[in-house]
Amino acid sequence: MMNQSLSIREAIIQRRSIKLFNGQPVEQDVLMSILEDALWAPNHQLRQPWRFVVACGSELLDLYDVLKEFALPKWKELSEEDLEKQMKKYTLAGGYVFVIVPEDARQKERLEDYAAASMLVQNVQLLAWDRGIGSCWKTPGFLDNPKFREALGIKAGERIISMLQVGYFDEMPKPKPRKSIEEFVTVFEKHE
Ligand SMILES: Cc1cc2nc3c(=O)[nH]c(=O)nc-3n(C[C@H](O)[C@H](O)[C@H](O)COP(=O)(O)O)c2cc1C
Repeated sequence: MMNQSLSIREAIIQRRSIKLFNGQPVEQDVLMSILEDALWAPNHQLRQPWRFVVACGSELLDLYDVLKEFALPKWKELSEEDLEKQMKKYTLAGGYVFVIVPEDARQKERLEDYAAASMLVQNVQLLAWDRGIGSCWKTPGFLDNPKFREALGIKAGERIISMLQVGYFDEMPKPKPRKSIEEFVTVFEKHE
C-alpha cells in the first residue's frame, strides 16, 4: 500500500489551484499512476465517460507550439522575450491532461457524464496534491475551437472539458476563503 501522507480532509482543505508552476517536469509514471487511481471516480452505469490526452515529456514542446497558436494568435508580432514571458503560464506547467468527455445526445446522460468526469478531475487534483504536485483546471475559450480540437485529435461527439495543468511549484497560494456553511443551508421545511 502506498504511503498516504494527507488525510482526505487535509487534502480537500489544503489543496489550492496552482497557477504558477516552477518548470519541473512531472514524471510520466507518476502522472499515469495518479490517473489510474482517479479512475475510481463514481460514474453512472460504469460508462467511464472520459479519455485523456496527456503531455508531460518531450511531447510538451509540440504542445507549446499548438498552445501558442491558440492562446496568442498574434505571437508573430511579439518580441522573442515577450513571447517567452507570455507563454510562461503554459510552459512552466510540468504536464497537461486534457479531459475529454463524450457528448451524449440525451441530456441526463450528458450531465451525468460531465459530473462523473468532474469528480475524476477532483480525484486527480487531490491525488496530485498528496504527492506535492499542484494543478489547475483551466477552461480557455480555445478548447472548443475546431482547429484546436483537430490538433488534439478530438472526435465529433467529444468535448474537452478541462485543460488540467499539473506541476511542481515553489509558492503556496493563499487560501481563497469560502462563505460559511450557514449561508448555503436551508433546513428542510415542508412547503404546502
Ligand atoms: C470548471 C472549472 C473551470 C475553471 N477554469 C479556470 C480557468 O480557466 N482559469 C483559471 O485560472 N482557473 C480556473 N479554475 C480554477 C478556479 O479558478 C479555482 O478553483 C478557484 O479560484 C478556487 O481556488 P482553489 O481551487 O485554489 O480553491 C476552474 C475551476 C473549475 C472547477
